Amino acid sequence: APVKGGPLATRAFRPVPPNTRDAVVVPPGFGHNVVIRWGDPVLPGAPAFDPANLTVDAVKKQFGYNNDYVGVTKLTSTTALMLVNHEYDDSELMYPAGRYSAEEIASLGIYTHGMSVVTIKKGKTPGSWYMVKPSATATPKNRRINADTTFLVTGPAAGSDHLKTTADTSGSRVKGTFNNCAGGLTPWGTHLSGEENFNQYFGAPGGAMPANPTVAGAELANAYSRYGIGVNASDPRKWHLVDSRFDLAAEPNEPHRFGWVVEVDPMNPKSTPRKHSMLGRFKHEGANVTIAKNGKAVVYMGDDERFDYIYKFVSKGKFDPKGVIGGSASARKANMKLLETGTLYVGKFSGDGLGDGRSDGDVEWIRLCTDTQSFVEGWSVEEVLVFTRQAADLVGPTKMDRPEDVEVNPVNKRVYVALTNNTNRVAGTEDEANPITEAGTRTSPAAPLTPKTGNRNGYVMEITPTDGDHTKATASWNLFLICGDPESPETYFAGFDKTKVSRISCPDNLAFDSVGNLWISTDGALSPMGMNDGLFRVPVKGENRGQVQTFATMPKGAECCGPFIYDGDRSVFFAPQHPGEISGASFDAPASTWPHTNDYPRPSVVVAYREEGSLGRDTH
Ligand code: FEO
Ligand code: CA
Ligand code: CA
Ligand code: CA
Repeated sequence: APVKGGPLATRAFRPVPPNTRDAVVVPPGFGHNVVIRWGDPVLPGAPAFDPANLTVDAVKKQFGYNNDYVGVTKLTSTTALMLVNHEYDDSELMYPAGRYSAEEIASLGIYTHGMSVVTIKKGKTPGSWYMVKPSATATPKNRRINADTTFLVTGPAAGSDHLKTTADTSGSRVKGTFNNCAGGLTPWGTHLSGEENFNQYFGAPGGAMPANPTVAGAELANAYSRYGIGVNASDPRKWHLVDSRFDLAAEPNEPHRFGWVVEVDPMNPKSTPRKHSMLGRFKHEGANVTIAKNGKAVVYMGDDERFDYIYKFVSKGKFDPKGVIGGSASARKANMKLLETGTLYVGKFSGDGLGDGRSDGDVEWIRLCTDTQSFVEGWSVEEVLVFTRQAADLVGPTKMDRPEDVEVNPVNKRVYVALTNNTNRVAGTEDEANPITEAGTRTSPAAPLTPKTGNRNGYVMEITPTDGDHTKATASWNLFLICGDPESPETYFAGFDKTKVSRISCPDNLAFDSVGNLWISTDGALSPMGMNDGLFRVPVKGENRGQVQTFATMPKGAECCGPFIYDGDRSVFFAPQHPGEISGASFDAPASTWPHTNDYPRPSVVVAYREEGSLGRDTH
């Protein structure tokens, strides 16, 4: 059985003070090291990294850019496999000015996206991990998933006419995955990953959008626009210069093949990764599985857009506990089918605001479809799953404030949601997306706060399923954190003494340690708070519930991604994404040079751990 309550979960630490250093800073008594950097070798034969002399062939073998999701699975007592997403590129920061043509930047950019599976090994200091130098014998499971990788579409929308293209008349085999943001490790040892802002890769350079598709017997006027897909959406990248599938006029269905949750088996580098249509198509932040009391797999998912929704999927089949890494291969294979059939829901949140001192209320999960039946009038199952946002619009869910990671606490089984911020939820206005109901309450749970503050610093919501049953269609919610500077009156730290908490802004990715503490990484703290983003630990139970403490701060311009707590709470992996991404910065005039191995920034994965012999002490 895994060790419970290791040092990251139970040791007290002195919170890292807010700062704007170009560094990763962890508390006294803790150490950290870089595991792998942009450009490091993933596959044998990768050339030495040189951003001024890149080729597509080199990029296909090297670690990609801008790491978001990080997940680790065990190989042996001293080695593990780490899967990391490469969310997006930023050519201004990546290459010397004028070095590459627009076509070259497009080609390099396409292949720097995707994912890497990397073999890592324990270092001398307990909790530390390092990449293993790639070779056929030492790293046989290493993999670089990119635009050449074929993904199989599963579930009811596989083979849909809306997914067919010139290159794929089957409508079920898609090259590549792009803009993969957060994700989750399944109980059966695969990784789920959300295709998020996929709209930015498609455009219509000729100036005319394609005709809208027919859905539910009529033209779906917002088929593209509801996802932010438009004539100029791909302007900064112009991938259509090197591949016509990114030109909407040439391939009007290509964007419908993105915006899915993908599943990757890290244990088999030859396995075909899948895109699960049953989980719907939207700007998927991530996806996390929990197993309900009756054995069904339940997936919670956020659609990260201002005023978009939170979704839930409940599988038809049941999880077989034998089907895990190292267990029964056939049972594991069966578990890998769980996300292909079941029921998709969208969340409706009602509440009574903060009038009684607690922002809270009820959740109703509204059915959108099963794999065989649609609950959206006039729409087929396939239509609901390909145009999920528009289908959901018809059933009255609640417009949320950019739902990012949604994850179930393995200890208390409550769902935690990062609602990162919503700059369009304007203070003091009755914005159209947030109307007052007849009963005088707002339709959004965040709404009771908006007249005073808007929502610049974000919230963390706690959802408790009815009877503790994640398959039920009802639940209750409350705001666990209202983020910001604790000196500001509107902030709320689950009732904890606000003079004893850390400032926090823009919660994004979430994780839990083995005792159920919530770990929060942030994205966007810099401008409103005058500090870099960070990684925070907060207990959710007992007398310290709500005591947010900064565990790590990021380099300049970086958001904190990951995090992933591993090996009995000995190691926390996190990814400082886009260091130096500050307005006006460039490769030649960088705002960050982290991790300080070169004179330009390199997005990297870091692991932090307690150093033995330190003065850290138990909190419990
Ligand atoms: Fe890629 Fe929602 O952040
Ligand atoms: Ca209330
Ligand atoms: Ca995110
Ligand atoms: Ca974010």
